[in-house]
This record gives sequence, structure tokens and C-alpha cells, in this order.
Amino acid sequence: MASPTRLLIVAIDGGAASGKSSTARALAARFNFMQVETGFHYRAITAEMLRLGVRSDDPSHSQRALHELSLETRVEGQAAWLEINGRRPGDEIRSPEVNAAVSHFAALPAVRARLLTYQRSQVDVALAHGFRGLVMEGRDIGSVIFPDAPLRFFLHADPTERARRRAQEGQTDSITERDRLDSSRKTAPLTIPEGAIAIDSTYLTLNEVVNHVAKQVEQHLRQSSAS
Ligand code: C5P
Repeated sequence: MASPTRLLIVAIDGGAASGKSSTARALAARFNFMQVETGFHYRAITAEMLRLGVRSDDPSHSQRALHELSLETRVEGQAAWLEINGRRPGDEIRSPEVNAAVSHFAALPAVRARLLTYQRSQVDVALAHGFRGLVMEGRDIGSVIFPDAPLRFFLHADPTERARRRAQEGQTDSITERDRLDSSRKTAPLTIPEGAIAIDSTYLTLNEVVNHVAKQVEQHLRQSSAS
């Protein structure tokens, strides 16, 4: 798939609570890139399905319900947010119910196909808003959504440390169970994309991770402006 040369795409993947969102946010601020958090997309769809009484073990009902949803984007600052039927989902997407259900809905091929199209369309949104880059984070960004992205990162962190980070945010979340489901699904499993730069953030501060990623971005920008 061709990625437009005018926009630098940075893919950041990793397991639950590995620091992807914070890294992507800091990177977007530093380089004036548009930031897209794809976990938000899966959480938003899950919250909507739960609200409609749709179960993840009923794929045909899920598929019908998906057709009824219109997906749009609202850009605020550097962040691009998904709106479903004209509304941006709120705090309900971080509820224990959504935490428990999201990996099950995310394993449905129809859900992934709908979000793949939506997520790739974020390139046009970023260009239309004049951003010089797009940083997208999730589980399959460097492997499936933008496999040709020139910069692809994979963040690791020890599960105990990740659980500590989530608890600090006051969240009840079964990180290892989500990682297990996300890594074992058939469609677009959580995996380290070939050629991605792996970073173990267990003993690093957020700043150290961001500086490491930013160095690669700077190098890429320098090289592409010289060529
Ligand atoms: O990133 P976050 O932990 O908020 O993601 C919530 C869930 O959304 C993940 O556990 C996974 O099931 C799903 N997800 C996914 N693919 C992505 C992003 C998130 O399957 N690219």
C-alpha cells in the first residue's frame, strides 16, 4: 500500500499499558504530528455494542449493528478522535465492562475490517489539517494498517510494571488476559512487526522512551529533507 510521501507515518505497537499512548502524545506534541489512539476506536465500538445489547459471541448481530454506525473524526489539538453517530464516546470506554469485553469484539473480523478502512483514512484527515506526520498507536499498526510506514516501534514492559501503571491510573484492568487474547486471535494478532524497533520500557521513564523514539524521527526527517 502506498503511503503518501508528504506525511511521515510513525507506527507504535505494544501490549496493554506498555506506554504507547503517552509516547504517541508526547511525540505528536514535539513534532506537530496528528495522534491517533486506536485502542480508543476498539473501546468506543465495544461500548456502543454493549449499549445496544450486542454480544461478541453473536458475530452476525455484531455485523448488522456495525453497519448502522457512522464513524467520523474530530481533530482537537494534535489528537484525532473517533465519533460514532456524531458523538465522541466518554469515560464509559474505560469501564471494567469495556475492559473485559474489548478484546472479544476486537477479535471479530468485521470489526477489524471496518476499523482498518477508518484508520487508513486518517492519512487524509492529517493531510487536510496540515500535519507533517501521523503517529498511530495500537496492536497491528506496523503489521497490518501501515506495514510500509518508515518508522515502526514496538514497546514492551514487564507485566508487573504495566499493572502498577494501570493501578496508578485507578483502573481495574486484566492486562495479561487482554494480551493473551490479543496475541492469540486469528485476525491481526498482537505481534512484533518484522523490522520494527523494539523498546523495553520497564526501567525507562516516559521521557527516556520519547527521546529514543524522537531521535529516530529526527534522523528520518533529516535524511528525507536531504534526499
Ligand atoms: O490500547 P488499549 O489497551 O486501550 O486497547 C484496548 C483493546 O483494543 C486491546 O486490548 C485490543 O483488544 C484492542 N486493540 C486492537 N488493535 C488495535 C488497538 C487496540 O485489537 N490496533
